[in-house]
Amino acid sequence: MIIRKSQQEIEQMARAGEVVAETLEVLREYVKPGVTTAGLDRIADEFIRSRGGIPTFKGYRGYPASICASPNAMVVHGIPGPYALEEGDVLSVDVGVTLDGFVGDSAWTYPVGDISPKAERLLEVCETSLYAGIEQARVGNRLSDISHAIQAVTEEAGFSVIRALVGHGVGRSMHEDPQIPNYGPPGRGPLLQEGMTLAIEPMITAGAADVVLHDDDWSISSSDESLAAHFEHTVAITANGPRILTKAAAPLLR
Ligand code: MF3
Ligand code: CO
Repeated sequence: MIIRKSQQEIEQMARAGEVVAETLEVLREYVKPGVTTAGLDRIADEFIRSRGGIPTFKGYRGYPASICASPNAMVVHGIPGPYALEEGDVLSVDVGVTLDGFVGDSAWTYPVGDISPKAERLLEVCETSLYAGIEQARVGNRLSDISHAIQAVTEEAGFSVIRALVGHGVGRSMHEDPQIPNYGPPGRGPLLQEGMTLAIEPMITAGAADVVLHDDDWSISSSDESLAAHFEHTVAITANGPRILTKAAAPLLR
């Protein structure tokens, strides 16, 4: 069952989403060679709480940290730890914040210093595919129009969509119906309606489409160790089109 939100609930979700966006902006400044992923986790945890939010991921099914930090071939759910970023890495950072009972969920893949042209292209394509998917999040479209748009952008660029990982509805819980695959024919699945709130999240690689789960039972990497990227926004379907909720209201002063 897809839970539609009232306008007021969407405003509440936008406030959670704003903290998510600001957290990702703060982290962007720290993503540099030598910084550990555990260090990024600490910064994010403190920032989220200073804004009155709760890091949604911490304790979720026993997850031990406040963010996911997944370097290079790792796609999602990397547990922050002693790994120190190296020049040329890419790092996917996923942030969830609960504020006043609602969740915002967003992810971004950052370059660490100078990265290879191919890695740059992967990030660019993943971000473009996210916005192509968001563009389809409109009343009257069907769910798989989002999926199809993401797949088209990704595969036209010669990259692969990971089949085993999906986007999701989001609201009072981080994971609600529906699941949103990042591939498939258009025109299938539920009709999109006003008030639906979706975490749209292409996860793509420069190589194989399949993934492996590591021994920590969380982190997931491409099976061929090819570079991966992950971009995610929480989006509300409104009468005026898609509204990105995980956006900073104003540029952060620092
Ligand atoms: N954004 C991720 C997702 O949609 C975050 C889950 S990490 C977890 O699944 F640790 F909380 F599971
Ligand atoms: Co998500």
